[in-house]
Amino acid sequence: MPRRLYDPADARRLLNPGPVSIVTTSWRGEANAAPAAWTAPLSMGPPMVGVVLHPGRHTADMIRFSEEFALNIPGPELLRETAFFGSRTGADENKIEGSRLETFAALRVDAPLLDGCLAWIECGLRDVIPTGDHVLFAGEVVSVQALEEAYAERWLLEERVFSPLTFLGGSWYAQALDAREAAFAVDAQGGLLGESAAEREEREEGEARAADLREREGDEGLAELSEG
Ligand SMILES: Cc1cc2nc3c(=O)[nH]c(=O)nc-3n(C[C@H](O)[C@H](O)[C@H](O)COP(=O)(O)O)c2cc1C
Repeated sequence: MPRRLYDPADARRLLNPGPVSIVTTSWRGEANAAPAAWTAPLSMGPPMVGVVLHPGRHTADMIRFSEEFALNIPGPELLRETAFFGSRTGADENKIEGSRLETFAALRVDAPLLDGCLAWIECGLRDVIPTGDHVLFAGEVVSVQALEEAYAERWLLEERVFSPLTFLGGSWYAQALDAREAAFAVDAQGGLLGESAAEREEREEGEARAADLREREGDEGLAELSEG
């Protein structure tokens, strides 16, 4: 298959498809929301996550001043709101009011949490690290909440409405669906054993059944298949 050389800046888009987050912040009675695709787990003990922002974003100032932030992870029902929050700056207007989304109080930070999201991560700011023309805000996670339909020790990805949005770039988004469990065996030398013909057939049949059901019955059909 032909390979093509891309601009080094394309690395960012190749790494994009994790859940997009809407970063909420609050400072002196003002709240703001802006989407961020550049987020990453940073540490297990203490639990830390990072969000990488351009220093010109109002959100970057809000985090510096308040020393806390929250990541709100939206599903497809907040597609338009996510794009809306990313199209203007909270320096000029109250975007949360403009979005007409309801909010609820966070457990450990002042930043409001957005109703209609699938999961929420509250953070206290621990470090601010310049990275080229952006800044990494490293936060210690102080509280995590998620919808039971969406998450149970891992994203369940059973129903489209409960699967997080990922950002592809520009005005394009996608969703991860069909969680798969990886099983593999090794040979006597420790090398990876290839998939047997029977295993491959079973996998392909399962994939075809899921695709067929989704096409005929939508996500309800897929949920039925994973229950059965
Ligand atoms: C889906 C999406 C993801 C984005 N991810 C980032 C990001 O990771 N870092 C960043 O600095 N800006 C990112 N942006 C741009 C900001 O969200 C955008 O500039 C926003 O208007 C900033 O709002 P603020 O000035 O109120 O903070 C993203 C925009 C969209 C639509």
